Amino acid sequence: MYNKYFYRDLQIGILGGGQLGRMLLQAAIDFNLNIHILDPDSQAPCSALTKNFQVGSLTDFDTVYRFGEDLDIITIEIENVNVDALEKLESEGKKIYPAPATIRMIQDKCTQKQWFTQHKIPTAPYRITQNRNEVVREVNRFPLVQKLGKGGYDGKGVHILKSIGDLAYAFDAPSVLETCVEIQKEIAVIVARNLSGEIAVFPTIEMVFHPTENLVEYLFSPSELSEEEEKRVVSIATEIVKKLGYIGIMAVEMFLDKKGEILVNELAPRPHNSGHHTIRSNATSQYEQHLRAILNLPLGSTHPLHASAMLNLLGEPKYQGAVIYQGVEDALKIEGVYPHFYGKTHTKPFRKMGHVTILEKDKDTLIQKVKAVKETLRVIA
Ligand SMILES: Nc1ncnc2c1ncn2[C@@H]1O[C@H](COP(=O)(O)OP(=O)(O)OP(=O)(O)O)[C@@H](O)[C@H]1O
Ligand SMILES: [Mg+2]
Repeated sequence: MYNKYFYRDLQIGILGGGQLGRMLLQAAIDFNLNIHILDPDSQAPCSALTKNFQVGSLTDFDTVYRFGEDLDIITIEIENVNVDALEKLESEGKKIYPAPATIRMIQDKCTQKQWFTQHKIPTAPYRITQNRNEVVREVNRFPLVQKLGKGGYDGKGVHILKSIGDLAYAFDAPSVLETCVEIQKEIAVIVARNLSGEIAVFPTIEMVFHPTENLVEYLFSPSELSEEEEKRVVSIATEIVKKLGYIGIMAVEMFLDKKGEILVNELAPRPHNSGHHTIRSNATSQYEQHLRAILNLPLGSTHPLHASAMLNLLGEPKYQGAVIYQGVEDALKIEGVYPHFYGKTHTKPFRKMGHVTILEKDKDTLIQKVKAVKETLRVIA
């Protein structure tokens, strides 16, 4: 049965051809897999890397359905896809991982939160509101975090409402209105489950925020959680994939609050930004793990071979146009520095243009190296 996978007679499709798709392709080469990719952008990071690259909308029923018709297995690298088409393909016998019903539940932060409640997954208290008028009624409970049910990404669908004045920019659409968590740490964990029910969890990562701007500056792994906290994280992540009967890789974003409780913030049903470092620092990368999971192969060891940090290379503010990566040679002189450029032709302010993994055992030196890379390697135009 395994042999089948290593011959190129299995057609695997990925919805989305961005950097996550690109790193999935990198892992797919090792297993000699035949990958097809659909992305709306003809210049997408995957566009030149497989002959089976198709340009088309990920949210259009016919486009997604036609893309999937001749494939055996379909997976995603972005959750904003047409689930109706995936459900039709599934009903016709295609293997879709993760399941369309799960993608649908996660696509909408309202149904995602409700799923947490139904399944007793710890999460910040919330209310679902349909429009701005319903938000207005909650004004005496401010500060609250308002999250757009559908269509938000990279923090763009999230507002903190502190006072009446903030109502002016409250979303007038179905949203989650959530208690402000007193955050001690933001953490994430990557978990995989295959069809046989085997589960593997990567060590937790910690996000470090910029002291003044509200942006993640870098991530590091393994985290500095206590053994107890790490156990709790692993048990929550395991429970989630079991309860969903999930297949593939999933990232679980969580908060450790000031009282020491772990709360689930949100799920990502795909490889995730907080798992890039696994390519260099863990026995198996999140990308290979995802492929193993969707092919129902034995999952790989998640053992950390190195302590590491991951720094996103974002387009510098004020620069827009054909990309230039400045300072690459100097950054590479630092031991343990491994950049990854996404092949996006154009940069714009804060666009994710690449990342750098930094391998370093000593925590203080690791932080120094992160700062040095941040100052040296810049994405300009
Ligand atoms: N209940 C909360 N209390 C305090 N801060 C919160 C809360 N919910 C979210 N945040 C902050 O807002 C950030 C973005 O929220 P969330 O992850 O839900 O949105 P997102 O649009 O999916 O972002 P991303 O794509 O970056 O993950 C979180 O990383 C956290 O810093
Ligand atoms: Mg998030």
